[in-house]
Amino acid sequence: MNQLTVDLGERSYPILIGKGLLRQLPQQLAARGIEPRQTLFIVSDEHVAPLYLEQVVNGLEQAGYRCGYHIVPAGEQVKSLAYLEEITGKALEIGLDRNSVFLALGGGVIGDLTGFCAAAYMRGVPFVQIPTTLLAHDSSVGGKVAVNHPLGKNIIGAFHQPSLVLYDTETLTTLPKREIYAGFAEVLKHGLIWSESFTNWLSDNASSLLSLESPFIEEAIQQGCAIKAEVVSNDEREQGLRAILNLGHTFGHALEAISSYGGLIHGEAISIGMVAAALLAERIGLTKAEDRVAERTISLLKQYHLPVQLPSAFAIDDILAAMRHDKKGKDGKFVFVLPTAIGAVEIVENVDEADIIETLKICKEVE
Ligand SMILES: NC(=O)c1ccc[n+]([C@@H]2O[C@H](COP(=O)([O-])OP(=O)(O)OC[C@H]3O[C@@H](n4cnc5c(N)ncnc54)[C@H](O)[C@@H]3O)[C@@H](O)[C@H]2O)c1
Ligand SMILES: [Zn+2]
Repeated sequence: MNQLTVDLGERSYPILIGKGLLRQLPQQLAARGIEPRQTLFIVSDEHVAPLYLEQVVNGLEQAGYRCGYHIVPAGEQVKSLAYLEEITGKALEIGLDRNSVFLALGGGVIGDLTGFCAAAYMRGVPFVQIPTTLLAHDSSVGGKVAVNHPLGKNIIGAFHQPSLVLYDTETLTTLPKREIYAGFAEVLKHGLIWSESFTNWLSDNASSLLSLESPFIEEAIQQGCAIKAEVVSNDEREQGLRAILNLGHTFGHALEAISSYGGLIHGEAISIGMVAAALLAERIGLTKAEDRVAERTISLLKQYHLPVQLPSAFAIDDILAAMRHDKKGKDGKFVFVLPTAIGAVEIVENVDEADIIETLKICKEVE
């Protein structure tokens, strides 16, 4: 088993990563001081529940825990106030009190939704994350939990750290390929913002990683979480450094918004976003063409079957408009996280709109 601690003083918590870890859930809860007298409430979605819920519930009940559960549809649309209300209603119905613990069994959507329900339920109860997607390695660190508002993603939320993250890599084997590739986009992002050696390792071991081989996949998740944890520990409430985690996201969120969270999934949108960021960095002289930062970024993303070209259907005006709407636009100016090298980024404010437009045009030609 791989393990790391997200170091946040009294809110510190462990992330455990390993094959078959679901079987250890009861003992790991006990190790975190979560006892059978506390009622557990599992939230999962309609794709994940048929695969893993029964195993989880049986294991917990055998260990003496009482648990209820609630299954929601799969997809981003459940990150809404309507589902917050539905889940809260179910929690009240089964008599959950302040000592109860919420368990999120699923991907980043279930993690964000359940985490926010836990943050709000009776002004806050503990929650445990059991991520079942690769992308959720990202959402399992940092304590950001939220639901969406019709006018913006993750607008209604809180910082609520989990008590434990238990990552069973065996669950990843049932993920659709497209979700695996998209999950790697965030792993690659962690390499690209922080560590050239991790980035090179991801490139060298792409085929083992893509087939989810042990111990590679556990190592990749651990490294990705460790990088995010290091950034977050230094900036729990997003005052400064934490913004570097948004590499590719200024462009990416705009693309997601235009495709109404439908056409491109998150990891795909930020893959294109990271290409655009690298091209913009080159354009404004932050990197030189001979450093090959953009070229290496593109070929790395392609190794993971991620899109690198901005689809021609996206109108540049629409992208700019969506970027202006994004909450990351500070005082009406565009703020970008841009690479200065492989494994290093800088936050750049005041980028000229003309450079953004030119970059987007170039991004449509990338092959
Ligand atoms: N809180 C954070 O810091 C943070 C960071 C990154 C992303 N996010 C959020 O995460 C969400 C995206 O997460 P995601 O990509 O995991 O999406 P997701 O939870 O929707 O999962 C993707 C799809 O895979 C299915 N699925 C999940 N696990 C499966 C498994 N083991 N086998 C088969 N199918 C499975 C789901 O039902 C869903 O259809 C977004 O809402 C994003 O905002 C949050
Ligand atoms: Zn992301």
